[in-house]
Amino acid sequence: MHKLPDLTYGYGDLEPYIDEKTMELHHSKHHKAYVDKLNAAIEKHPELEEKNLEELLLSLDSVPEDVRMTIRNNGGGHLNHSFFWTVMKKNGGSKPAGTLAEAINSSFGTFEAFKEKFSNEAAGFFGSGWIWLALDKEKKALITGTKDHVNPLVNGQTPILTLDVWEHAYYLKYQNRRPEYIDNWWNVVDWSAVQNYFDGAKMKI
Ligand SMILES: [Fe+2]
Repeated sequence: MHKLPDLTYGYGDLEPYIDEKTMELHHSKHHKAYVDKLNAAIEKHPELEEKNLEELLLSLDSVPEDVRMTIRNNGGGHLNHSFFWTVMKKNGGSKPAGTLAEAINSSFGTFEAFKEKFSNEAAGFFGSGWIWLALDKEKKALITGTKDHVNPLVNGQTPILTLDVWEHAYYLKYQNRRPEYIDNWWNVVDWSAVQNYFDGAKMKI
């Protein structure tokens, strides 16, 4: 059975940048629904219980067709949200240091240039999806966007930071002002968590 992970901070801890009500709904309703639907799909095919979430999403072709889209969407939703919660914290923000800063500078010139490019991608992304800072096979940092709940892992990339740009992530507080949500979100990024992912840490899920 897949489980909704606990947050390591309170729903109100990301205020005023991400409001308490949005965090509560996002985690306890939206994310939970993905977990519940994923589990319901797996119950129909108990042999799928042997695979962890990443394995399931990386081998969708071998998942029975009647639950394939359900697992793609809800498994992806579970994986991406679980990851998203871990790259934010109370009193986050500031900027990366060390090897992560070097990788960002190497790909984008400066941290400010990276932030601007990431923010522009996030603001301009059409529809529901995610914007990622990810590493390619040579460990070069890149920015990419994925539709729905696709994770860059399926494209051979390793995610180290993400931003949820589905409307449910910001609409209560920001309505249609997605760029304002993005600008404020930088204040809650946990760069030490991003550094850990850059160093090869695996998310426990
Ligand atoms: Fe979301």
